[in-house]
Amino acid sequence: MKKISFFLLSCMLIVSCQDETNNFVQLASGYELYQKNCANCHGDDGAGLAKLIPPLKNSDYLITYKDSLQSIIRKGIQKPIVVNGIAYSYPMPASPKITDSEAESIIQFILIKFNQQSK
Ligand code: HEC
Repeated sequence: MKKISFFLLSCMLIVSCQDETNNFVQLASGYELYQKNCANCHGDDGAGLAKLIPPLKNSDYLITYKDSLQSIIRKGIQKPIVVNGIAYSYPMPASPKITDSEAESIIQFILIKFNQQSK
């Protein structure tokens, strides 16, 4: 009995470590992809740029449209939007070359690093 529970415990540990590693790897590639594709405009810390580029950090818009982030990244935004009470009208360009899984890594990175409390 003891042996079996030890075995089960080890399995659970291994599985949860793999999860952690996967999360870590996804976060690291999300960071790199963010730096390459988004940081130019939204900034390293997600703070945005004055009234030209909205913040991703603690953004109410981002949380409201959390389920549309894949399409926002892929297609950009062509209409004026309001983020945290400030109106933005400069369009965000589409990034059609970003794959589903790359976009998912970027989304995880943004949610964890910039909007932790809403996760
Ligand atoms: C060329 C500059 C530019 C790049 C590059 C860019 N964005 Fe944007 N982004 C904008 C602008 C400008 C807006 C506001 C669009 C509007 O008002 O129509 C915006 C809006 C957003 C929004 C919704 C508003 C908010 O702040 O929550 C999200 C989410 C977003 N961008 C994520 C990203 C992600 C993720 C990337 C990288 C894949 C990225 N953007 C790359 C300029 C950019």
